[in-house]
Amino acid sequence: MSDMAERFTGGHGQLALGVCYYPEHWPATDWAEDAAQMAGLGLRYVRIGEFAWSRLEPQPGAYNFAWLDQAVSTLAGAGLQVVLCTPTATPPKWLVDAHPEMLPVAPATGEIRGFGSRRHYDFSSVDYQQASARITLKLAQRYGQDPRVVGWQTDNELCCHDTTHSASPGAKAAFQEWCQARYESIETLNTAWGNVFWSMEYADFAAIELPFGAVTETNPAHQLAYRRFASDTVLGFHGAQVQVLRENTRGQWITHNFIPMKDTQTDCVALAADLDFVSYDSYPLGRSEFLLGRDHPEEARRYMRTGHPDYTAYWLDQCRGLKERGFWIMEQQPGPVNWAPANPRPAPGMVTLWTVEAIAHGADVVSYFRWRQARFAQEQMHAGLLRPDRSRADAWAEVETAVEILAALEGLDLPPPRAAVAMVVDVTAQWVAEIEVQGEGYNTNTLQFQFYKALRQLGTAVDIVGPDADLSRYQLVVVPSLPIVPKALIDACQATEALVLFGPRSGAKTDEFRIPTDCAPGVLQQLIEVRVNSVETLRPEVTESFTYQGKSVHSRLWCEDLTVGNADAVAHYQDDRPALVRSGRFAYLATLTDDAFLDLLLTDLLEECGIGSNPPPEDVRLMRRGEVTFAWNYGDVPRQIDLPQGATLLWGNNELPAHGVCVWRESNAR
Ligand code: GAL
Repeated sequence: MSDMAERFTGGHGQLALGVCYYPEHWPATDWAEDAAQMAGLGLRYVRIGEFAWSRLEPQPGAYNFAWLDQAVSTLAGAGLQVVLCTPTATPPKWLVDAHPEMLPVAPATGEIRGFGSRRHYDFSSVDYQQASARITLKLAQRYGQDPRVVGWQTDNELCCHDTTHSASPGAKAAFQEWCQARYESIETLNTAWGNVFWSMEYADFAAIELPFGAVTETNPAHQLAYRRFASDTVLGFHGAQVQVLRENTRGQWITHNFIPMKDTQTDCVALAADLDFVSYDSYPLGRSEFLLGRDHPEEARRYMRTGHPDYTAYWLDQCRGLKERGFWIMEQQPGPVNWAPANPRPAPGMVTLWTVEAIAHGADVVSYFRWRQARFAQEQMHAGLLRPDRSRADAWAEVETAVEILAALEGLDLPPPRAAVAMVVDVTAQWVAEIEVQGEGYNTNTLQFQFYKALRQLGTAVDIVGPDADLSRYQLVVVPSLPIVPKALIDACQATEALVLFGPRSGAKTDEFRIPTDCAPGVLQQLIEVRVNSVETLRPEVTESFTYQGKSVHSRLWCEDLTVGNADAVAHYQDDRPALVRSGRFAYLATLTDDAFLDLLLTDLLEECGIGSNPPPEDVRLMRRGEVTFAWNYGDVPRQIDLPQGATLLWGNNELPAHGVCVWRESNAR
């Protein structure tokens, strides 16, 4: 990690707030007043430029930086630090007209996804890769040593709007090359994929099809290879951009604003590897709406103006886990957004609460999206800190409160949170479950989230890490479901002294999407002697009771039948077959379950490994950075919390109002 990233995101008292701004949307005569107001509000950073390509290069090779120079100098003149973006999320019309084959093609329909919104590019287009490197170079040459620009955001929300996968002729050619590099001979590929099944054998790499548009399902190994290719292509596109920035900038950091990792269809740990730190775009209401949707009407209604109390944190912890360090919120929801099925107003207090929650989970900077609500084009219904007429929107006063809270924390040592519990996730788990559906309702994200929220509701912090992470510092490791288990994870499980719980479907597939030679859980048999004989999936509305510690709980959706070797069955299906198996430090759970069972099981495991559980009051969550503890209340009734003896309150008090926050420090020394 670079020194300068350490300075900006080391998480040691460098907390700050920022905002996203679009100087190109407003007359230049507005900029000075905007900048003065931003600084006056207490913001330190301003992010600009991510959609401005048509103004930066109005015609091929004809650049216009005059307006951006003026914007940078106006913003910096007010004391703000500028975060500049590469504008590659919005290629201009002239570029698309010159290279129409750079447009992505929708895999499901074969239709070209055309110009007129954003992200209209195919990651595998060589023409677009070159155009991206060119505009990035121009910007880096102009601003790469400008002290008013402190850092860079690459592109904008890579992969958003389902753009990772494309069925373009360019993608097909690139996929064929990728296959050649991975398998070297076509015989190896045919064998690896099992192409003899249904006579799918290829005679050479140039004959390989994309796994779309066939009569019925295509070979899962073929689909997995395509997903790996698509992920690698995103990494290659982004890596090339980062390299241009690295070679042409000095003393400036590089970040990227991630969307929820599941929506990228990409290996986000690898994507983050090139960056100094990760940023995340946090929109709690819209995202909870998609999580809870129509399936959980009660909860959806209850948390309509707050978001689910654990769902934002689940993404924040994933951000921290990508590089195992602090991160930024590059875009924070300030009011109603414009893109969810319903777009309610946040409950009063929530913008401050979300800011504090993000900091508590390891964010060092929270930057609001956007400064002023747009008067034109696609996002007119999206709130900002100001209304289009410059009057203050609802979020303004809440940002003022956030500024006061940050002032109360100034000078404190705030290392990123460190948990004693790790949850291991990987994009391949999602890929396998999406490719081989097997039972309606099985969703990797919701099953991971079920484990995560159970742990948070028991009062523990959770580090969410990838399958290559070092697990030696943890006391409990939870792997909700990981069909393809890399060797590194087996090694890490053997190296740690933690209790390790594997959920169903773990180890169920080889790297090439086959059933392991000794059946599932494949390589996990090195840790626990168990064999999956068969799997049944249940209709989504069906649950069946099973017994754990004499209590009746429920299995659902996915149930495996096990043969157990040298291990103990500790929970049983109705007919006495094993549902949970234990061997020393390792446990294997053969079914998806209800929340009640996870609560019992995780309580026991937390107890056994010495962490213990300490459930917070309903809708209250706590998180700790060093000596500082943050607490917040997602509920609409006040809640009382117990402060440890000798705690010094830094903000609020132990009577947490509805949607209120409180911060304290454990020892008196400052
Ligand atoms: C983000 C995006 C922004 C804006 C915002 C609206 O996904 O990066 O440009 O569209 O959503 O909520």
